[in-house]
Amino acid sequence: MTEKIGIDKIGFYTPEFYLDLTELAHERDVDPNKFKIGIGQDEQAVVPLDQDVVTMAANAAVKILSADDLAEIDEIIFATESGIDQSKAGALYVQRLLGINPRARALEVKEACYGATAALQTAVDHLIAHADSQKVLVLGSDVARYGVATAGEVTQGAGAVAMLVTRQPRILALERTSAYFSEDIMDFWRPNYSDTAFAKGKYSTEQYLRFLDLVWHDYQAKTSAELADFAAVLFHIPYTKLGLKGLRQISADSNTELQESLLAQFTKATVFNRRVGNIYTGSLYLSLLSLLQNSDLPANARLGLFSYGSGAVGEFFTGTLQPGYQDVSQQVNVAEMLDQRQKLSVSEYEAFFNQALPTDGSEMVITPISKNATFYLQGMTDHQRLYK
Ligand code: CAA
Repeated sequence: MTEKIGIDKIGFYTPEFYLDLTELAHERDVDPNKFKIGIGQDEQAVVPLDQDVVTMAANAAVKILSADDLAEIDEIIFATESGIDQSKAGALYVQRLLGINPRARALEVKEACYGATAALQTAVDHLIAHADSQKVLVLGSDVARYGVATAGEVTQGAGAVAMLVTRQPRILALERTSAYFSEDIMDFWRPNYSDTAFAKGKYSTEQYLRFLDLVWHDYQAKTSAELADFAAVLFHIPYTKLGLKGLRQISADSNTELQESLLAQFTKATVFNRRVGNIYTGSLYLSLLSLLQNSDLPANARLGLFSYGSGAVGEFFTGTLQPGYQDVSQQVNVAEMLDQRQKLSVSEYEAFFNQALPTDGSEMVITPISKNATFYLQGMTDHQRLYK
């Protein structure tokens, strides 16, 4: 029998500040229902200057890792499309901040919002290839920025997911067969000189749905699977309405009972995404966490997962929930974390958005803003970020 490998622990961190999208709608002279129903988002995480993708990833991981985990992890894969350095991997900072075993590989991967899935599959491959390896840490951390008063503004967000990938996982055992598809397209990208993303909005949504169609049909052709085999299907969630369109697309020919049950699980799987916004590469896994903490699916329920990263790569893969997953996946109380955030007015959010670190090597000291974070950015000097 094939050895089980998959997600043993999952943690999450999002900044302590948020924007209410009804207030944003009023300020932008838009009907709030466009944001709440048309886009399917209620709130959006806002990142303060003392948090970046490194601190968010470290803050997500510190909540779930034990001393044994720190000693036994032998690969750290940091997935991001809003990295802080063109050369050095964010994984190295996290390794130092958390005190992870130095006899580990530490690297960063990028392919837009697909990055964390690439990292997860690479972690599984690492464990298959190295019989003496026990634990891989996968981090997906991003700040989604489109710009003040742009069409993409309502789909911004920030946060990080940390996943410990092991043998005999206690949350989700990943099945080995998956279907993936890559094609060089320009639906969303961010050139090196820009700190906001460029997106061809409507085109990007069409590509998301086209890639879903391709990989779902490839997966079915490879495995003879049917939609009814899955208790829930999870999606990359740039905003919940697009995931909903994906679900409607693949379930269009299914009976009403199956459509309703998948829709009910989808709703539970997007509770947190509605309040955090797009966290790019972590979004699919925030949706998984939302399902784990808001649903009561039985052990051995099978999940389908659709990952999409603009540019573009899509993958459909699957896993089964493990006995006792409910307990292990409660290490971080996400609902409480979201309830404790501080609401910003639209003008306060704009001020946060426009704050920037120096780019000329000059020194900056940042007065701590985040009150509940273990790790934060203290400032910059000599072109280096100083973490505490
Ligand atoms: N009440 C209810 N619904 C309303 C409404 C109202 N008063 N007013 C409008 N709507 C609906 C519209 O009918 C539309 O619904 P459908 O999609 O079902 O047609 C929906 O609200 C959105 O309206 P628009 O299409 O007019 O929205 P927009 O032009 O302002 O832009 C967007 C929407 C393209 C998503 C934009 O926010 C954007 O560019 N976002 C960034 C790009 C993005 O997220 N792309 C996703 C695919 S790429 C990807 O997945 C990778 C990634 O993470 C970025």
